[in-house]
Amino acid sequence: MKALIPVMLGLFAVAAQAATPNEILAGYRAEAAKHNPRYQPSAELGAQFYTRLFSASAKMPSCSSCHGDDPSRSGSHVVTGKAIGPLAPGANAERFTDPAKVEKWFRRNCGEVLGRACSAAEKADLIAFLMRGR
Ligand code: HEC
Repeated sequence: MKALIPVMLGLFAVAAQAATPNEILAGYRAEAAKHNPRYQPSAELGAQFYTRLFSASAKMPSCSSCHGDDPSRSGSHVVTGKAIGPLAPGANAERFTDPAKVEKWFRRNCGEVLGRACSAAEKADLIAFLMRGR
């Protein structure tokens, strides 16, 4: 796992570089392992996180508020009503292929829904959940 860290740091440094969902998951997993060496991504925890109701925003209490209860289907923005393509990479090949885009939206959406940044473990669990059944 230690050997992956420099690889992933390199990956995040090159913003435009394409990646696979597995590589992006591995990057967050390596980051989470720095805090907890026994950390393993959990699709189960990711599923709970995806629909959990947080209290930072009444309008958008959960990730599923905009992305929909089923991430393999399209969602709709809770404020603007604009359609949002499926978040699951199995249903939307563009998902989790651009590390800079992924970070940008994690930063924005976690800030709005949780009122704080998501941890690396929360991100890895969520991606593990979204990749489940592929
Ligand atoms: C207010 C509506 C809204 C909420 C709530 C929301 N999102 Fe999003 N999310 C968006 C929009 C809009 C985009 C960008 C448009 C697109 O990529 O389809 C996006 C994109 C993303 C992406 C980019 C993925 C990729 O590779 O394309 C991630 C990751 C993401 N959201 C995670 C989350 C997480 C985690 C939560 C809950 C903490 C969340 N979102 C809650 C609206 C929302």
